[in-house]
Amino acid sequence: MNISEAIKGRISVRSYLDKPVSKEVLTSVLDTARWAPSGTNTQPWKVVVVQGEKKQAISDAFLAANKAGLETNPDYAYYPEKWQEPFKQRRFECGMDLYKALDIGREDKEKRLAASLANYQFFGAPVSLFFFIDKVMGKGSWFDMGMFLQSVMLAAREHGLGTCPQASTSDYPDIVREITGVSDQYSLICGLSLGYPDESKPVNQYRTRREPVEAFTSWLE
Ligand SMILES: Cc1cc2nc3c(=O)[nH]c(=O)nc-3n(C[C@H](O)[C@H](O)[C@H](O)COP(=O)(O)O)c2cc1C
Repeated sequence: MNISEAIKGRISVRSYLDKPVSKEVLTSVLDTARWAPSGTNTQPWKVVVVQGEKKQAISDAFLAANKAGLETNPDYAYYPEKWQEPFKQRRFECGMDLYKALDIGREDKEKRLAASLANYQFFGAPVSLFFFIDKVMGKGSWFDMGMFLQSVMLAAREHGLGTCPQASTSDYPDIVREITGVSDQYSLICGLSLGYPDESKPVNQYRTRREPVEAFTSWLE
């Protein structure tokens, strides 16, 4: 697989096979990703790999918090408070395309809720990785984290693995810190579900849209 194929073929995988991922493979993915660049080589990433009972405990706690109506309290605001164009429309299309792939109608609130709660079950993935950053680090280090995250997602592809980055799994950072034993000196950036994709599921067969190069590039000569 060449680099363009690796980048263009990566999708957010939201259905997984019930097949474990070996520690050797997971280590290899992280061993590749650690070569991601970072400002002054600070390597600000901290990763917790969660599987088995611990993963189930986090999932159960997320679902219980949601059921109890507990207010989400992420460590940072991922999205704007008030959506503006063109981002509003792109976000809308993103949701619509996903619901279409899941065959969920606009009015079907029950199925929509179930689709949303699937986030808290890591879409059935056997592995969830949680990405943390030390609170002493500045804004710049957050985009180092983004590059690291993409590196993990691409390295995973080499092993036939699929991934889904999830801001939703940082809705309740205190739950994750408590169960993983990570101190509150660290901000939880996001989770990443990982496993072997269930290719037979339509949710893994559609493609999200992208703007053409002209839409975001100016050429000055
Ligand atoms: C940091 C980050 C957080 C995301 N959080 C979620 C999430 O909580 N739930 C979800 O289903 N998808 C989530 N996504 C996936 C995006 O919806 C997806 O990347 C986007 O629609 C483009 O589709 P693609 O990844 O299939 O190319 C997230 C993506 C990123 C980069």
